[in-house]
Amino acid sequence: MAKILKLNKISKVADKEFPSSYIIGEDCADPDGIILRSFKMHDYAVPSSLLCVARAGAGVNNIPCDKYADMGIVVFNTPGANSNAVKELATCMLFMCGRRLAPAMSWAQSLKGTPDVAKQVEDGKKAFIGGEVAGKTLGIAGLGAIGSKLAKVALALDMKVLGYDPGMTPERLKAIGDVTMVSLEELFKQSDFISLHVPYLDSTKNMVNEKSIALMKDGVNILNCARGELVDNTAIVAAVKSGKVNRYVTDFPCEEVLGVDGIIATPHLGASTPEAEDNCAYMAAKQMVDFIENGNIVNSVNFPALKKERTAPRRLCVCTKDVADIKSLLAKEGVNVSDMAEAHRGAYGYAVVDLNCNCTADKFNGVAGILKARFIG
Ligand code: MLT
Repeated sequence: MAKILKLNKISKVADKEFPSSYIIGEDCADPDGIILRSFKMHDYAVPSSLLCVARAGAGVNNIPCDKYADMGIVVFNTPGANSNAVKELATCMLFMCGRRLAPAMSWAQSLKGTPDVAKQVEDGKKAFIGGEVAGKTLGIAGLGAIGSKLAKVALALDMKVLGYDPGMTPERLKAIGDVTMVSLEELFKQSDFISLHVPYLDSTKNMVNEKSIALMKDGVNILNCARGELVDNTAIVAAVKSGKVNRYVTDFPCEEVLGVDGIIATPHLGASTPEAEDNCAYMAAKQMVDFIENGNIVNSVNFPALKKERTAPRRLCVCTKDVADIKSLLAKEGVNVSDMAEAHRGAYGYAVVDLNCNCTADKFNGVAGILKARFIG
């Protein structure tokens, strides 16, 4: 009987994926798994019972994934599960740069109760003239699940699409369509609209900054549905105020960017659709159950993927660090390794061994290189 702690409100779809024997709740003690959305775990006191954390979403910057890897705690995310929702918001943002929808809508509402609304509309609409996107160039930084979907929309809108993605393959590019891959510098230089779809990492922090903005076209529009930390707020506010940047549309409002003419903010709405919430909850719960019940790892951000059919009543699962050959290590510890699979991701390794035995995992405590070991079954 496993216990699952919810640190955020998660779609009920998740509950259906957990076996009926599981205890699931928002104040569940000694959890085996934690499921969350945006709860910040960096200062969270980690329960010793914890085996895994599943983020119902793509970004994992609210979870200390490296620290958890060193504790043998597997962190999952749900890549692609909310990509359609985020793509749709990014598409709205694209139009909002030119068409001035938010102020135009407020103005239209303000006419209620005034005389001859129709005449005022026709006289006043010139204040809200805005440009089209067709024929313009959209640069997409990051052509993962969201970026590649947005590229298809932009192509259908008759935009020219530039892409930057160091992980792009010819097969993926072919499936996306007529996107010209360029360096990030070229993308900054050539685009009328720039949409960010990269994860927040040390290497991507403030990728839009004073220097990169200086490379951009005058009147560029920047869309950010990814993470606020990708953009240097001081630089973007200055660039919007000077007119270098026409619009900065961000899903991550903060004190510095609010109230600035030319900065449009939405309240982290990218994945807030019932469809995306259900998809993320389903995927997060499914991955977590497969890990708890079978030791399989799919879509982890800190341990390698590994899936193996169960071939014996018991399964030993082992998380390692700096062990090049887990099989030899386990064999040295007296484990029958004839039916085992192992995988590695950088310094971290993971292995499952199917066994007929009654042993416990205690014997692995303190073994150099073993972060966590547990038996299933
Ligand atoms: C994501 O990282 O996929 C989103 O931030 C998910 C969310 O809004 O919870």
